[in-house]
Amino acid sequence: PAPAPQCPMGAAPDVPLFLRRDGFDPAPEMAALREEEGVRLVPSMFGTPVYAVTRHEAVKTVMADTSRFSVAPREEEFGMSALTEEERARVVAGNLLGLDAPEHTRLRRMLTSEFTVRRMRGLQPRITEIVEEHLDAMAAAGPPADLVADFALPIPSLVICELLGVPYADRAEFQERTGRQLDLSLPEEEQAELLRDSRAYMAGLVARAQARPGEDMLGMLVREHGDELTTDELVGIAELLLAAGHETTSNMLGLGTLALLRHPDQLALVRDDPTAVAPAVEELLRYLSIVTAGVTRTALRDVEIDGVPIPAGSAVAVVLATANRDPRSVDDGERLDVTRTAAGHVAFGHGLHHCLGAPLARMEMQIAFPALLRRFPGLALAVPCEEVAFRPHHFIHGLRSLPVRW
Ligand code: HEM
Repeated sequence: PAPAPQCPMGAAPDVPLFLRRDGFDPAPEMAALREEEGVRLVPSMFGTPVYAVTRHEAVKTVMADTSRFSVAPREEEFGMSALTEEERARVVAGNLLGLDAPEHTRLRRMLTSEFTVRRMRGLQPRITEIVEEHLDAMAAAGPPADLVADFALPIPSLVICELLGVPYADRAEFQERTGRQLDLSLPEEEQAELLRDSRAYMAGLVARAQARPGEDMLGMLVREHGDELTTDELVGIAELLLAAGHETTSNMLGLGTLALLRHPDQLALVRDDPTAVAPAVEELLRYLSIVTAGVTRTALRDVEIDGVPIPAGSAVAVVLATANRDPRSVDDGERLDVTRTAAGHVAFGHGLHHCLGAPLARMEMQIAFPALLRRFPGLALAVPCEEVAFRPHHFIHGLRSLPVRW
């Protein structure tokens, strides 16, 4: 018999509501909220009150309306309050996610041409090579393998390292640091220490690029925009690209493979039909909505969303996972169906801060999923599904490991 599609995440009672997921699904409380009043004041992932916005249209409104919602980081977020005033200013510099216009516009313009679909097509041969090398290594070592450590994490890490100009030899250090930075069960002091460490690491690479700019993206930024960017901005941009470049895509590859293994008929489509791949990647993005929390804004004035009044100064968080399964925007959204056209999902955000790396992430996934499934047509879980370890306290949803055999 076909396996049950869902894979229970197991009880994780200490996980704050905002980070809670139920296997692939949004937390049932959040899904219920979407069907009740749509917007409600709940404790945020930092324990402070936040208006959760759960419906598709409303989520898009909040993300698109930069005149009423600011992205500037809030005092309570990510160890910010444990930093000095000066450190805080540095942490914000260059981090597009936390900058409003006009700073955001200025920085985003410098980067847009680097991430076009056309540019990304140019990377296709190298990404294919990287994927094949990792599959060769898995085949040579023989089953079982940990799909996260051997495939899902190294591929996007190596790609972003080469693109940006970060030594891949440093991966153990930066992967562990980013993983911990996204783990919101860490005490605030430790979060602040991680912020300091990752800045110090990237400042070293930026200094090197300033002395001898290479052919990579750091070198390009120094050569073409060196006189418009402060060193803090260069460090912030590079840190964001390194972290966003590997953490997100790797979790999509790990969770996405698990989701396909739980839906063998759909896995077969992705493996055997090249035209099925691009829509399947969009559907996996929608269904998994890995950015669980962290898309937070501040209301700049009194606003009303879905009929709920929100006072100026309030924190407002959009819940991408419930928006992407909202019955008002998608039919039967609880079901993974790689044959549907999932265009219109908000897994990459929406509006001015829409994911800069989306063309890269799509390219990596469109190459990696079918290559994996073709190389190992008998790919299967090597442990009972209940034993697969999710990462419960991370605001990017993912797996700690994924034991597979073939
Ligand atoms: C922004 C998701 C891959 C770089 C965002 C946002 C989301 C997102 C939801 C918007 C956040 C907000 O509005 O507050 C994802 C997902 C990915 C992915 C699901 C993988 C499947 C990548 C990659 C890169 C990247 C590979 C870089 C190489 C960025 C950057 C921003 C961003 C720089 C900030 C854009 C801005 O503020 O203007 N991403 N991302 N992302 N992402 Fe991604």
